[in-house]
Amino acid sequence: MTMVYAGICCHAPGITSRPEKANQEDLSLLLNQFDRLRNEIEAVRPDAIFLVSAEHYANFFNDNMPTYAVGMANHYEGPIEDPEWLGIARVQVPGNSSLSKRIVASLLNDIDVSYSEEWKFDHGMMVPLHHLTPNYDIPIIPSNINCQSPPFTSLARSYEFGAALRKVFDNMPERIALIGTGGTSHWPCTPDSGKINEAWDREFLSYWQDNNHSAMTNYKDEDVLNIAGQGAFEIRTSIAIAGAAGGKGDIYFYQPIPEFACGCLVASMEVK
Ligand SMILES: [Fe+2]
Repeated sequence: MTMVYAGICCHAPGITSRPEKANQEDLSLLLNQFDRLRNEIEAVRPDAIFLVSAEHYANFFNDNMPTYAVGMANHYEGPIEDPEWLGIARVQVPGNSSLSKRIVASLLNDIDVSYSEEWKFDHGMMVPLHHLTPNYDIPIIPSNINCQSPPFTSLARSYEFGAALRKVFDNMPERIALIGTGGTSHWPCTPDSGKINEAWDREFLSYWQDNNHSAMTNYKDEDVLNIAGQGAFEIRTSIAIAGAAGGKGDIYFYQPIPEFACGCLVASMEVK
């Protein structure tokens, strides 16, 4: 077994772009739990971190939108946004093209993923990486689930994507840490930005914590949109991690932080 870690976290750009706006006690608890995740990842000595993200029209657009994409380069760059605005310096992030190629080739037995040999990371990847591998010394294999532009892959299929990843990782000699990053309820870039449905978030996270496949995958996109906002389409990333890990989750931190326009989350899941 070579999947050595599973976790999820939020990627709200406000964490790095406007940290001073948040309640400082909440911010410090959040950052402490990011540190905890980083320490746990470092402790398992991964050869690579496979990141499942939901990017925001940074590399993929409606003229050519892959449902699932995996990066296949030796280096990536980020952030694609103004580094001064995001509060994260532009860096070269190490990849591993030969490892990516083997992952993609094996994944294609179960899931029709696309791949890209170029990728400029947006905040959806850079905010987690800034906290989890601040020296950028662990190779990253980026992946994206389209959570921006419907029609989407189903929630059940997202779980299967995770299960397919697990199958691939368990047949590789490398030690892979798997991190998912996406939001729960939020309404980014709309007049409702800043609104958070805490009850919905806690319900979803309780299903995630129990790895309750049917409850997690039972949501309908039209209900999610009405109740939790278009940002909540990103739960696909967390569901994929549950599909890969197969164990129970442990929520290290969840707290609505309206100044960051979402509930902020850090959690790990037992790799079963
Ligand atoms: Fe996002």
